Amino acid sequence: MMLRNCHNYHDLRKLAKSRLPGPIFNYIDGGADDEVTMRRNSEAFQTCDLIPNVLTGVKDIDLSVEVMGQKLDLPVYLSPTALQRLFHHQGERATAAAAEKFGTMFGVSSLGTVSMEEIAQQYDTPQVYQFYFHKDRGLNNAMMQRAKESNVNVMMLTVDSITGGNRERDLRTGFSIPFRLNLSGLWQFATRPMWGINYLTHEKFSLPQLDAHIDMGSGASSIGDYFTNMLDPSMNWKDVEEMVKFWDGEFCLKGVMSVEDAKRAVDIGCTGIVISNHGGRQLDGSRSSFDHLAEIVDAVGDQIDVVFDSGVQRGTHVLKALAIGAKAVGLGRYYLFALAAAGQAGVERAMTLLVAEIERDMRLMGCSKISDLNREHVRFR
Ligand SMILES: Cc1cc2nc3c(=O)[nH]c(=O)nc-3n(C[C@H](O)[C@H](O)[C@H](O)COP(=O)(O)O)c2cc1C
Repeated sequence: MMLRNCHNYHDLRKLAKSRLPGPIFNYIDGGADDEVTMRRNSEAFQTCDLIPNVLTGVKDIDLSVEVMGQKLDLPVYLSPTALQRLFHHQGERATAAAAEKFGTMFGVSSLGTVSMEEIAQQYDTPQVYQFYFHKDRGLNNAMMQRAKESNVNVMMLTVDSITGGNRERDLRTGFSIPFRLNLSGLWQFATRPMWGINYLTHEKFSLPQLDAHIDMGSGASSIGDYFTNMLDPSMNWKDVEEMVKFWDGEFCLKGVMSVEDAKRAVDIGCTGIVISNHGGRQLDGSRSSFDHLAEIVDAVGDQIDVVFDSGVQRGTHVLKALAIGAKAVGLGRYYLFALAAAGQAGVERAMTLLVAEIERDMRLMGCSKISDLNREHVRFR
């Protein structure tokens, strides 16, 4: 299959699967435990139907939104994800370049493979820095300071990953960083020699956000060790309130699911929350983000920017989340499969397809700007 023959998420996923060694494909594709939440995330959109208006005059479509102080040309952004240079040697550079081209926001992960400083200098588009909370408070402040000096626009603290999710696909293949592959995992790498050639002939793998603080390159520590030894499971609201004050700018919690937590985020001065279950990669059995969105919007939507991710594969999914009241919608696997399939060209193809879908769907819904979408446009079955 060629990139030009990819017309949707499913095609891009198929192409990524044909290019990636099995353990890496499964790291992206998989979820926690029985993957119930992961499946429900996308299925949930099918329980909600769109109700279009006709004859509204929809010649020009404006997809722009403003979220957490950022003016975006699109209501979708590229959510922060780890290890992108493992998926394609261009990694975060491809993601950032595509985000810039489409006038939207993208995230650099704490487990990113290109430094947030380089990305902030090279690409002129709003940048989120995804943060994990460390036991060492000095380290937290030093990392936030680094982000401030790089002019990162939004600080995004991930709060649903106090410990790593149980990704059984990774246990089966032996996927970890550094690689500790079992025989079957090694064989699957051998069947994708082009990936191996690209990996070996490009810049050495590194995790620049963490390299100054933890030695992962020599193989002494793994990402699992990082979660276990360096992150602070005792992180609480007081700690985060201090972080919000220290950051003194747009600050958002990623992975809020309860109304109570959403209200507390407002109380401690956050400017955004992402309703997310990490794409079903953390707590399996947790409610899908879409099933839960309305409850959170009703509780705090007038006090904080409610952003949404998990399970989005289609323009209509985006429209449904916006109609319920999300201010913007985050993409994860949607752009990661495209990245793995063809680097920057892949992410651009994915964004072109999605923008075309959203524009077409907006016309068919009789809406010419994002703020036209509202609850009257959706019904749950
Ligand atoms: C391979 C992969 C790596 C991810 N890495 C991170 C990460 O480092 N930090 C984070 O907060 N979220 C991470 N996420 C979660 C995404 O930011 C996003 O919440 C999720 O992918 C949305 O679900 P979707 O993939 O169904 O769109 C990752 C997701 C995937 C698929």
